[in-house]
Amino acid sequence: MSGPHQPGGAQRVGVRIAGTGSCLPERKLTNADLVNMMETSDEWIVQRTGIRERRIADHTGPESTDKLAAESLRRALATAHMDAKDLDAIIVATMTGEMSCPPTACLVAAQIGAGACGAFDLNGACCGFVFGLNVAHGLVAGGAYRNVALIGADTLTRYMDYSDAGRSTAIIFGDAAGCAILRATDDTSKGIIAQSMHSDGAGWKEIYVPTQPFHFPEGVPVDACKYGRVQMNGAAVFKFAVGTFSNLIDETLQKARLKPSDIDLYICHQSNQRILHAARDRFGLPENKLYINIDRVGNTVAASVPLCLDEVVRSRGLPEGAKVLFVAFGGGLTWGSSLWQL
Ligand code: UT7
Repeated sequence: MSGPHQPGGAQRVGVRIAGTGSCLPERKLTNADLVNMMETSDEWIVQRTGIRERRIADHTGPESTDKLAAESLRRALATAHMDAKDLDAIIVATMTGEMSCPPTACLVAAQIGAGACGAFDLNGACCGFVFGLNVAHGLVAGGAYRNVALIGADTLTRYMDYSDAGRSTAIIFGDAAGCAILRATDDTSKGIIAQSMHSDGAGWKEIYVPTQPFHFPEGVPVDACKYGRVQMNGAAVFKFAVGTFSNLIDETLQKARLKPSDIDLYICHQSNQRILHAARDRFGLPENKLYINIDRVGNTVAASVPLCLDEVVRSRGLPEGAKVLFVAFGGGLTWGSSLWQL
């Protein structure tokens, strides 16, 4: 290890992304399928969101959040040429763990045969993976942990209302898991250059999942049919997202003293293609610099960013030294970024 000594004896080290993996459920839910379930059309969905199909997990067990997460980690371990026993910690960013106890990360650790490593969940809604990158980076860069697996996994389709009443929300979400393994390196040029994490708790009522009468915001009638179903004020989130996205990118670039064109790749939460295009236009980015897969997978919550990362790594690779900006926003409300030099 190299770098200056830190309080407590640990040394500051570089952090690299040693491997990535992802896992999608088998079943596709196309716009044509949705037309058979609710009053909607392929044209409306494509125009408003850019989504053509998404994946929906088998909710009887074989594609539970932990199983998708574990498979994404197995694939990441394979690309990193690592054994599960080498992991010092597993973090799962999710808002759809199957049970409130145990943590999904513990189920994942057992399924992949990890040793007695640390394992915990982190709920940052759609920002979970990006917040997790900042947290996991801190664990490794501080010198106390060498190998940390960070997974973003969600199966939010369990909480959808696929009737006319839920149509503006149900059309956007899909299920998935993605993973990145963060590993200590002596090369201190690698790791996070700048980051940010924000929230506005007063905006909680724009996306929530009620299960009790008192969960409904003031002025919204209690409706038991909505229990366990995502309630989203799509228009309000859309407005918040367009502005926040640009501000977040600006803020992160300023912290790093970089220009938009200095970034090699933008990997952004896939919530709506119009939001992504607005950011691309605002910063004058060429198409190949802002990765988009929402047409094939929809909005996969905390899995969205790592799924994009894994697809990029597998399809075109990411060169050593590349600057990659991860950006997300979502329920909470939350928003955050993580700018890496690979
Ligand atoms: O990752 C978590 C964060 N979430 C987001 O980023 C979501 C951000 N929001 C959005 O992407 C968009 O707001 C949606 C795609 C969810 C909805 O699009 P919108 O353009 O905001 O639609 P809207 O809810 O304002 O509804 C507009 C119209 C309404 O009809 P009227 O009242 O104008 O006659 C809706 O009833 O479109 C209607 N509508 C639909 N029509 C056909 C709503 N959903 C549908 C549908 N098919 N699926």
